[in-house]
Amino acid sequence: MHPYGRYATRGQSDIYIPAKIAWFAMEMPSFLVPVLLLWQAGSLDGMGSKFLTFMFCGHYLHRTFIYAVRNNGCPTPLRFVLSGSLFCTLNGYLQGHNMIYCTQYDDNWITGFRFISGIMLYFVGMSINIHSDYILISLRKPGDYGYYIPQGGLFEYVTAANYFGEIVEWFGYAIATSTLPAFAFAIFCACNLGARAWHHHRYYLEKFDDYPKSRKVLIPHIF
Ligand SMILES: NC(=O)c1ccc[n+]([C@@H]2O[C@H](COP(=O)([O-])OP(=O)(O)OC[C@H]3O[C@@H](n4cnc5c(N)ncnc54)[C@H](OP(=O)(O)O)[C@@H]3O)[C@@H](O)[C@H]2O)c1
Repeated sequence: MHPYGRYATRGQSDIYIPAKIAWFAMEMPSFLVPVLLLWQAGSLDGMGSKFLTFMFCGHYLHRTFIYAVRNNGCPTPLRFVLSGSLFCTLNGYLQGHNMIYCTQYDDNWITGFRFISGIMLYFVGMSINIHSDYILISLRKPGDYGYYIPQGGLFEYVTAANYFGEIVEWFGYAIATSTLPAFAFAIFCACNLGARAWHHHRYYLEKFDDYPKSRKVLIPHIF
């Protein structure tokens, strides 16, 4: 993945675009592709498939139309936007196609343990992710691209509270759907965001002498 945010190095040949447009363009395909697949299919069988497809699209609806608009990050390299957009197109197709054409849940699925525990994890993870992302957004005044120590919420326990929420969310989705593509995506998120969380943690320790020593990297009390 191309470096972005605090790790982007401003090469002369790089094109940078505003963060709001970048995040809108990157996340939009993960919402649009499943919606188009759904429109083409006409309908979805069963409450389980309907609910799970709306969960996937709901995450990206928020990311595309609310998070992207509120994002106040530094300008983003076009190369990262293009690769992110391609990934979201492929993953949107994979998850949407899987849910619409390859799965069938009987009526008992939505009262079963896997569905209910997965849904609960999904919403807990989503709440942590959104709450933490908005704590980060609130650290800056307009036009400021500085970095500050995040406080409050799960940031009291870990450096990458927003990533922890996102990972929990997608594992919840994977458990609720119990399909290989959903687990593959959850594992991808854990690897991708886990590595970035570690770099963020190292960055804070180097930048701030008063960075809380008890704060872990990603998983409260553990890592
Ligand atoms: N599913 C996946 O694989 C995946 C991959 C990437 C991202 N995401 C999700 O997308 C969202 C954004 O990801 P991200 O990698 O951009 O997160 P991030 O590095 O934590 O940054 C989030 C936003 O907050 C700003 N920010 C971060 N730390 C800050 C600090 N200490 N002081 C002031 N501002 C700070 C960043 O600005 P700058 O941009 O200027 O640094 C950026 O606008 C997260 O919810 C993440 O979970 C998911």
